[in-house]
Amino acid sequence: MSEAGGLRSGDNVTVDGASLWNDILETARFGATPKGGIRRLTLTEEDRQVRDWFAAACRALGCSVSHDSMGNQFARREGADPSLPPITMGSHLDTQPTGGKFDGIVGVLGGLAVLRALRESGHETRHPIEVINWTNEEGARFAPAMLASGVFAGVFTEAEALDKTDRAGVRFGDALAGIGYRGPEPCGRHPIAAYFELHIEQGPILEAEGKTIGVVTGVQAIRWYEVTVTGRDSHAGSTPMTMRADALLAAARMIEAVNAVGLAHGPDAVATVGLVENRPNSRNVVPGEVFLTIDLRDPDDAVVGRMEDALRERIADIAAASGVRADFARVWDAPAVHFDPACIEAVRQAAESFGYPARRIVSGAGHDAAYLARVAPTTMIFVPCAGGLSHNEAESAERGDVAAGANVLLRAVLDADRR
Ligand code: GLV
Ligand code: MN
Ligand code: MN
Ligand code: MN
Repeated sequence: MSEAGGLRSGDNVTVDGASLWNDILETARFGATPKGGIRRLTLTEEDRQVRDWFAAACRALGCSVSHDSMGNQFARREGADPSLPPITMGSHLDTQPTGGKFDGIVGVLGGLAVLRALRESGHETRHPIEVINWTNEEGARFAPAMLASGVFAGVFTEAEALDKTDRAGVRFGDALAGIGYRGPEPCGRHPIAAYFELHIEQGPILEAEGKTIGVVTGVQAIRWYEVTVTGRDSHAGSTPMTMRADALLAAARMIEAVNAVGLAHGPDAVATVGLVENRPNSRNVVPGEVFLTIDLRDPDDAVVGRMEDALRERIADIAAASGVRADFARVWDAPAVHFDPACIEAVRQAAESFGYPARRIVSGAGHDAAYLARVAPTTMIFVPCAGGLSHNEAESAERGDVAAGANVLLRAVLDADRR
């Protein structure tokens, strides 16, 4: 569909950056923390509130809104050809316990901004266009992360996902029904033509290089583990230092080993212990049990494999030397992902057409796009965040950069619609 002057249909359409920014500020009240961040854990009351807001905002733009059996929400604007599967955009509305205003929601509200731009310009697409909110991307309440996009892509079964429990023992399926978001459409029955996810980078590279757009080529490999260290509770006053089975001391040595494994597999490898539970957690009891989690990542699957081997050996050695037992389990394995070349090129061209400075980048964070890439041509668009800080209440991004990201999203979607 070429028009006079080489312009293609839709090339004159841009998003309304002010409305998008307003939406970000407006939704930041759902789970707002005193420090200016967000605590909106999956399937809590705050999650229900932001979901309801999103559904109402999409309906106000004339879209139909549904949710599937995993609570994934789909807002749909019909296209000219009802036989075509939708071109989709999206991300997540849940946050970390001390999360920021941008991680996740920018991709959903950026999609909403695209829907608004299409409606206001009267531009008709061939394909239906959808915006998706994926349930439980963070994995902060229910492990692993990307749980519902994982079910959608066939990585996990719905039954196993519904049976996941949080640290208080609440079942995912019960929490989902509890907020009224267990829908009738079976998760995964939804065909999609392409998926584009806009997100803040969550790292420092774009800002440091003065780039506005990250053309995301893939996502690094992630593996999660759980370790239960079992020693023996005993009296802190009367148990001699040489006669203890101190689970916390052993866990401290393991934490040090995790860090050493990350450092030894550089330059890109990262290794983190993020959650520790000490029992009985009483100041005059030698701790008898510790639960801890480990997160390993590298762009190369083989490196993550070598990190795991090294870690297994170090943890076994530390347990033996410390007189405790360590039960070590891998609970999540998300291999490295390479996005669709045509989608990547559409994003690159969109950024170029607007004159936004851009660079190719591999995602250090996990995203629903990593699982969507298994079932549809997929890619992502990054925008900078201040100081590269994310999973932090102080997370922030520039209004102009977010609008630029949404414009690239819009143009990449229209490009996919023409293909
Ligand atoms: C999810 O946000 C992850 O990257 O761990
Ligand atoms: Mn995210
Ligand atoms: Mn996150
Ligand atoms: Mn993430």
